[in-house]
Amino acid sequence: MTPPVVETLTAYALLITAASAAGYSNHTVGGKLGWFFNATTNTSATNYTAWAAAQTFALGDYLIFNTNSNQTVIQTYNQTTLRSCSADDSDNGTFQYNGGITNFGEALTIAFPLTIEGPNYYFSDAGDGIQCQHGLAFQINVTHGLGLPPSLNQPPPPPYIAPPSPDTAESPLGTVLFPPPNDAVASHYDVRWALYCFVAVLIFLR
Ligand SMILES: *[C@@H]1O[C@H](CO)[C@@H](O)[C@H](O)[C@H]1NC(C)=O
Ligand SMILES: *[C@@H]1O[C@H](CO)[C@@H](O)[C@H](O)[C@H]1NC(C)=O
Ligand SMILES: *[C@@H]1O[C@H](CO)[C@@H](O)[C@H](O)[C@H]1NC(C)=O
Ligand SMILES: *[C@@H]1O[C@H](CO)[C@@H](O)[C@H](O)[C@H]1NC(C)=O
Ligand SMILES: *[C@@H]1O[C@H](CO)[C@@H](O)[C@H](O)[C@H]1NC(C)=O
Ligand SMILES: *[C@@H]1O[C@H](CO)[C@@H](O)[C@H](O)[C@H]1NC(C)=O
Ligand SMILES: *[C@@H]1O[C@H](CO)[C@@H](O)[C@H](O)[C@H]1NC(C)=O
Ligand SMILES: *[C@@H]1O[C@H](CO)[C@@H](O)[C@H](O)[C@H]1NC(C)=O
Repeated sequence: MTPPVVETLTAYALLITAASAAGYSNHTVGGKLGWFFNATTNTSATNYTAWAAAQTFALGDYLIFNTNSNQTVIQTYNQTTLRSCSADDSDNGTFQYNGGITNFGEALTIAFPLTIEGPNYYFSDAGDGIQCQHGLAFQINVTHGLGLPPSLNQPPPPPYIAPPSPDTAESPLGTVLFPPPNDAVASHYDVRWALYCFVAVLIFLR
């Protein structure tokens, strides 16, 4: 028989897992109708503005686009880019999913995590912008909610410690201008970094 302590711990672990999973939502864009455009009738499958207006979006949520390779998904934080209905490669805040598919009509599921608060814009730039002009575009307002989960919150890089240069080592002023790093601070960072790596490995193993 399982010792009660183990059962209790397992119950807690399940509770914690359920709670953290329940905190974030996946939004299937367009619901059952997905992310589609009919080039014959020049219409999008649904009104994506109306779809978005009925939802609440928060950091750590995902947008799931059920679509095919006849449409694209561009994510941007730049309203000018949305209005132009064309993706600007030089804009660091604009992302296009590229599965390397060159055939028409191949089924695709694209998941975009919401990682920046405030306005986020989505559109398809296929058909020289015609899809976007005819409704395959929407904007959302991402609220803070619970904040980013660790899986999406990239750890900061370990602190940079400049190697001692021969010049400063030899200079009599070197020790005055560049005091040795505080060991307590350095080890604190090391522990934090090790913890991040451990959590990352745990997430990877899940
Ligand atoms: C939400 O979508 C992401 C990305 O596809 C996936 O990793 C995660 O398991 C999904 N979460 C839920 C609760 O379905
Ligand atoms: C586009 O709409 C036309 C007219 O309603 C329909 O006949 C056709 O099957 C649709 N095409 C797609 C790919 O859904
Ligand atoms: C789509 O829905 C929005 C919000 O409900 C509305 O303002 C807009 O006129 C609709 N667009 C079309 C083409 O019906
Ligand atoms: C938005 O995109 C336009 C057109 O590419 C560009 O001129 C502008 O600088 C961008 N704005 C921001 C805030 O990146
Ligand atoms: C794009 O780069 C600029 C300058 O490097 C930076 O200020 C801005 O936050 C970046 N935008 C995004 C969405 O990463
Ligand atoms: C995809 O686009 C091609 C070329 O325009 C068209 O022949 C095909 O019917 C489209 N397929 C779907 C599923 O919309
Ligand atoms: C779709 O709309 C574009 C303008 O946005 C127009 O040039 C094109 O002829 C239209 N196609 C059809 C099939 O109505
Ligand atoms: C986005 O939502 C936040 C929090 O609800 C609100 O303060 C902000 O005004 C909204 N921004 C836009 C552009 O709707």
